[in-house]
Amino acid sequence: MNTIPIPAALIARLRNARRVAVLTGAGISAESGVPTFREAQTGLWARYNPEDLATPDAFQRDPKLVWEWYTWRRERVRQAQPNAGHHALVEMERHIAEFWLITQNVDGLHRRAGSHQLLELHGNLFRAKCFSEDRPVESWMDGDEIPPRCPRCGGLLRPDVVWFGEMLPTDALHAAQHAAATAEVFFSIGTSALVYPAAELPLTALAAGATVVEINPQPTPLSARVTYSLNGPAGAVLPALVAQTWAAA
Ligand code: OAD
Repeated sequence: MNTIPIPAALIARLRNARRVAVLTGAGISAESGVPTFREAQTGLWARYNPEDLATPDAFQRDPKLVWEWYTWRRERVRQAQPNAGHHALVEMERHIAEFWLITQNVDGLHRRAGSHQLLELHGNLFRAKCFSEDRPVESWMDGDEIPPRCPRCGGLLRPDVVWFGEMLPTDALHAAQHAAATAEVFFSIGTSALVYPAAELPLTALAAGATVVEINPQPTPLSARVTYSLNGPAGAVLPALVAQTWAAA
């Protein structure tokens, strides 16, 4: 894995960095077998576009369909394991004094890998909240009724994730914006960099003078603007970067 060349100037910058922020998207979990958002779905869900299921309108139209899609996604994620990219970010956190891992992913794989300084911008698949009251519930039973009901008010439960058209959790968003504005090095990994406000974070870091690094096998709207574009899968590039930066340090 050390055969992937990492620019020497980036390695030097990282070795001296005290503040690093990382933004991840669905691409970092692709090598764990979790489908990304903008690739076509397969099997049961092939006829649906994720962007048409992840909205409050879709839930109001057909709550059973949307809940079942999330149940299917939870099952896929339960069977998946964090990959070498997730693990490399756990290692990176150990070397950096102020480290923030900002994720758009709802799969919980960063936490399962062992990352601590984590900001989940789009919620988490394994939590639910009441659609009417917008309050999280401690637990729920998957029974005959789909979706299950809120134990407090009897309203429908929905996954505690951010849907299109909804606000991001304010505390996490503000912390992410602060991390982006103050990072010396900012990574954008496995994200199409299309969905705002997350897509704004690398631009904030660039405007503040950070070294911005993109890791993605495909170009994105961000690619032309970053300091370094490392083309390749995160599960190969990140372990190489971490090994080459800190192995002999
Ligand atoms: P996308 O599906 O839009 O983009 C995934 C990105 O990962 C693409 O740019 C791929 O080229 C890249 N990719 C694929 N395999 C990769 C690998 N092995 N290593 C690195 N990169 C790889 O997913 P997101 O950018 O995460 O929001 O999407 C952003 C948000 O839009 C999601 O959080 C979700 C979605 O709709 C909400 O649900 C609110």
